[in-house]
Amino acid sequence: MLQDKIKQYTEEINQFQAAALADVEAFRLKFLVSKGIVKGLFEEFKSASAEDKRVLGKVLNEFKQLAEQKFAELQAPFESASANQKQAQEGDLTLPGNGFQLGSRHPLSLVRKEIVEIFKKLGFVVSEGPEIEDDWHNFSALNFPPEHPARDMQDTFFVEKKDENNIALRTHTSSVQVRMMEMGKPPFRAIMPGRVYRNEAISARAHCFFHQVEGLYVDENVSFADLKQTLYHFVQELYGEGTKVRFRPSYFPFTEPSAEMDISCTICKGEGCQLCKQSGWVEILGCGMVDPNVLENCGIDSKKYSGFAFGMGIERVTNLKYVIRDLRLFSENDVRFLSQFETELI
Ligand code: PHE
Repeated sequence: MLQDKIKQYTEEINQFQAAALADVEAFRLKFLVSKGIVKGLFEEFKSASAEDKRVLGKVLNEFKQLAEQKFAELQAPFESASANQKQAQEGDLTLPGNGFQLGSRHPLSLVRKEIVEIFKKLGFVVSEGPEIEDDWHNFSALNFPPEHPARDMQDTFFVEKKDENNIALRTHTSSVQVRMMEMGKPPFRAIMPGRVYRNEAISARAHCFFHQVEGLYVDENVSFADLKQTLYHFVQELYGEGTKVRFRPSYFPFTEPSAEMDISCTICKGEGCQLCKQSGWVEILGCGMVDPNVLENCGIDSKKYSGFAFGMGIERVTNLKYVIRDLRLFSENDVRFLSQFETELI
């Protein structure tokens, strides 16, 4: 009897429990597919007597609803579980994002930028040139006599030996000054930052390459007083007001007169410490009035024009700012060293 079957299946449905998704599927296959029980009962219903139909129609519809509702109930916990699983795979989008580590500027880049900024305010432009240079631009035009020791293998990395014009890695960025003067007309007011190479044994205090900023100012009536005032201003800007400077006579082939500039020790403020070897002073740069021979070599009338030039090592300037005792740290890329500059201005 249809009615008995419905009763029996109703019981079965009410008691049905699904431990796994497979049980839910089994339920569906048993009751709800086109060859399943619900459809089957409806088939049987068709052949029932008209009188039975009146009673059974309602019962059968209720049974169908029950089966469908039960299926939805059985499915529900698994659906939300699979939704959770999906979410777990995708990650919780409401969580705050993972931070990522930003790199930072290299201390030499920071200091170079600072030096460039100071001179830019005085009207100096930045000029650059090649790192592989010929003898003329690195030495001859700069008034280096042929027998000058700086041309020697001891100091210079030669790339190619030619009879008259050797090719080498530049030993200073003064070569850029020559290129600039050859190519243009005075006045010149420029600084030349760049990497230079010297054949030296690598130690805490020397490296085979380092970085320089050189400067050149050529115009009518440029005097040593202009040189002193410019460099004095530079030091006040870089190391703070009250930093003292002193000039000591020196020699460079390309400047006459030449000088080396010291500043009062940035660490002990002149009291005497390890950095300044108790003298209270530290050397920071070389400078001088451009030798007339150099101007003439570059096609500039030395009777009409004069100029000053200076050059400093960025590593040295950085050491005086941050007290870095070993030059090698600059090129080892050790993040423990580099990350200390993360908070510095970008
Ligand atoms: N070129 C010199 C050096 O490499 C520095 C310097 C530049 C000195 C300009 C005087 C004038 O040491």
